[in-house]
Amino acid sequence: MDAQPPLQPVAPIGVFDSGIGGLSILAALRVAMPREHFVYYADSGHAPYGEKGGEFVQQRSLTVAEALQREHGIKALVVACNTATTAAIGLLRERWPRLPIVGVEPALKPALLLTQTRRVGVIATRGTLESARVAALLSGLQHEARFVLQPCDGLAEAIERNDTPTITALSQRYLRELGKFGHAPGEIDTLVLGCTHYPLVIDTLIEQLPEGIELVHTGPAVARQCVRVLQAAGLQHEGREHAGEVIWRTSGEPAALQDAARRWLGLG
Ligand code: DGL
Repeated sequence: MDAQPPLQPVAPIGVFDSGIGGLSILAALRVAMPREHFVYYADSGHAPYGEKGGEFVQQRSLTVAEALQREHGIKALVVACNTATTAAIGLLRERWPRLPIVGVEPALKPALLLTQTRRVGVIATRGTLESARVAALLSGLQHEARFVLQPCDGLAEAIERNDTPTITALSQRYLRELGKFGHAPGEIDTLVLGCTHYPLVIDTLIEQLPEGIELVHTGPAVARQCVRVLQAAGLQHEGREHAGEVIWRTSGEPAALQDAARRWLGLG
């Protein structure tokens, strides 16, 4: 039974990821909802999720969502992690049916609007790409374009550590494995960033691609969806108190999260 107290418009929005990747989503949320305030939970003590299997990710997602509700009374939850969304969003919605929950998924449909060559690369964690949810998404779109999938083992972890040489080496390797990028027939002209860590290193990715390749990520679309969901539930914050504030929580090193928040959002 969902025995939670009523949701309050003045309460914060909970945002969580396996680590710092969800900061790429938090940035878009703060722009789209300047009056809202947030609790960001980086589960860095248990990262990366992408290579740990669905059951582990489900358990962690339930634990984090429960803590955000119990300790912060959040009015909505943004699962700012593709791996956790694909593994656990159904379970989270079942457990807390009254809590508005917004997830992130690789932006396969938006990529279809951009590709001219009808060949789209998708980089994400192994967990995301092997999930039933992505298989279902793909099965509806296969006739529209060819999607080439590349799991990027170790990349989110290197971004978590801010380990630039490894980030560069792994992204070079994985982009090469995807095949030829370009604008000629048969070449990949659109790349979906299917892990929320990857937009944090978008400059490194762009440097390794020919000019004019479209890189697609979900931050702004997720933020728009969150606005719609809060509106529909009558949960938008109308006042100005706490506007834009973020409470930082982590199961890892607080100093590492502060550094990342400063580096990527100018906050912390
Ligand atoms: N940022 C996460 C995602 O969007 C996962 C990274 C990881 O922990 O493997 O999938």
